[in-house]
Amino acid sequence: MSAEIIDGKAFAAEMRARVAQEVARLRDDHGLRPGLAVVLVGEDPASEVYVRNKGRQTLEAGMKSVEHKLDAATSQDDLLALIAQLNADASIHGILVQLPLPDHIDSDLVINAIAPEKDVDGFHILNVGLLGTGQKAMVPCTPLGCLMLLRARLGDLSGRNAVVLGRSNIVGKPMANLLLRDSCTVTVAHSRTRDLQEVCRRADILVAAVGRPQMVTGEWIRPGATVIDVGINRIPAPERGAGKHRLVGDVDFDSAAQVAGAITPVPGGVGPMTIACLLANTLTACCRIHG
Ligand code: GUN
Repeated sequence: MSAEIIDGKAFAAEMRARVAQEVARLRDDHGLRPGLAVVLVGEDPASEVYVRNKGRQTLEAGMKSVEHKLDAATSQDDLLALIAQLNADASIHGILVQLPLPDHIDSDLVINAIAPEKDVDGFHILNVGLLGTGQKAMVPCTPLGCLMLLRARLGDLSGRNAVVLGRSNIVGKPMANLLLRDSCTVTVAHSRTRDLQEVCRRADILVAAVGRPQMVTGEWIRPGATVIDVGINRIPAPERGAGKHRLVGDVDFDSAAQVAGAITPVPGGVGPMTIACLLANTLTACCRIHG
């Protein structure tokens, strides 16, 4: 193995400590306490784990944390009524609706009902537009976390060839916009891209966000490249016992680490950064709302 391991877990812990310091300062100097509301509809086990972690880390940072767990059969109108109530609640500065939502609910409608200044996920159409036009926006947490790791590792990103593998609204598209804002030459590659492996091999920076376990192997990677693995996939691990699973990324870590200059592990890479950025966004929202 030659690649440096990018320790997202340690980086995220430092970031959370900085957020907590700033939260304490807001309390002492201005009597303010940032508040985050998380809305979960249904009982997806993975989402429940995320929501629990978010709640715990929000409290640890000194913020107010509110969880609304709604039945999977909750109507769209009831969900919209809850969003309206949270929009009007002065003690709440950030609202996150956990995705995916059940099929009978129009996710775009719900996301766009969140007050843009409380949209700590950065998914509201206004924030998407602000980011796309290079204006001050609330930025989606996972790509923001990736960007921070890249800057920490590489410094100035200007002029680098970046390939974003995946074109989702949550990661791929905002990641491409952020890299463009940092003056990278950006390619967005996806399942229909021709010569996908060759395209990836041109990347100085490769961000993999496709949700396909271990798809990117060492042959896809340019020697010395920086590889950011956004994937979190559960695969069977019979070597750990019957019925056991383990988490892997979209990158085949062992072969990729032979070639890359630096790489994020799964777990312990991008994942912890997402929640740290959520806390940072909630703090930012609180500061902006209170001028
Ligand atoms: N589901 C998976 N990732 C995310 C995220 O970053 N935000 C929300 N709201 N839901 C998600």
